[in-house]
Amino acid sequence: MNIAILGAGNMGGALAKGLLQSGLPPESLTLTCRNPEKHPELQALGVRLLTDNALAVQAASVVIVAVKPWQVEEVLRTLAPVLRPETLVLSVAAGVTVAQLRALLPPEVQAVRTMPNTAVALNEGVIAIASDTSSALERAQSLLAPLGLIVPVEESKMDALTALAGCGIAHALRFLRAAQCAGVQMGLTADQSAAVFAQVMAGAVALMRQPGATAESEIDRICTPGGLTVRGLNALEQAGFSAATIRGLLASLPKEKQ
Ligand SMILES: NC(=O)c1ccc[n+]([C@@H]2O[C@H](COP(=O)([O-])OP(=O)(O)OC[C@H]3O[C@@H](n4cnc5c(N)ncnc54)[C@H](OP(=O)(O)O)[C@@H]3O)[C@@H](O)[C@H]2O)c1
Repeated sequence: MNIAILGAGNMGGALAKGLLQSGLPPESLTLTCRNPEKHPELQALGVRLLTDNALAVQAASVVIVAVKPWQVEEVLRTLAPVLRPETLVLSVAAGVTVAQLRALLPPEVQAVRTMPNTAVALNEGVIAIASDTSSALERAQSLLAPLGLIVPVEESKMDALTALAGCGIAHALRFLRAAQCAGVQMGLTADQSAAVFAQVMAGAVALMRQPGATAESEIDRICTPGGLTVRGLNALEQAGFSAATIRGLLASLPKEKQ
């Protein structure tokens, strides 16, 4: 299967790395950009890096549109005449709807709106998908499954997935960064603190994924009455932790949905 990724930036590059890691041969992957010299790390992966979108999609059965949202219209308008009818077009562009994609594509070309996060590069991503046809969703699901958790959603939920997953990974990393700063203040090195707290977060996730477990049930097991953990958690809440987390994620929704 040949895949073309239009846009070799943060997200196009992350998807490319994830697809290669999941076993796609480099010669089956073409990326496009405006300035190939800006992307030596992608060239080193052995993929084709072009500036001509039409050339890139010629042999592709899947085209992933990973340019900025405001560039999608121009890119798809110029490609519509050269796309093969059986091509599957996946867009990662935030806010670009399935209807908008369909209006820019020939009627027989299937389109899927997706919202990945950058952890797709390590096959640990979350990818929300929405489409107007179930066969397009099935094709997208089987292509993207190796890259992480696939979440098929009604399109009306795509903004929530954008905030929670697309942006949420940066929110989670900010928590990690703050914990690292605390560790340094306690006298640990920055590297020690980051490594320890990253494993703490991985452990928290593993605990919560046990059958029947919830975040609260696992917290209750750690908090001795009158102990240090609950004192720390209460101090965190007095400083507005939960409220700030919710407010931050809601602020990552488009303005009209906040
Ligand atoms: N970053 C994220 O975490 C994230 C998460 C979810 C969704 N997204 C979506 O991913 C898309 C890309 O975002 P990004 O963060 O990856 O942006 P980015 O890093 O700026 O990458 C954009 C890429 O598009 C290329 N480009 C510009 N015009 C082009 C054209 N006409 N034809 C082909 N390539 C062109 C640029 O080329 P040059 O490098 O040569 O300038 C660049 O490689 C956006 O629609 C965004 O909503 C991003």
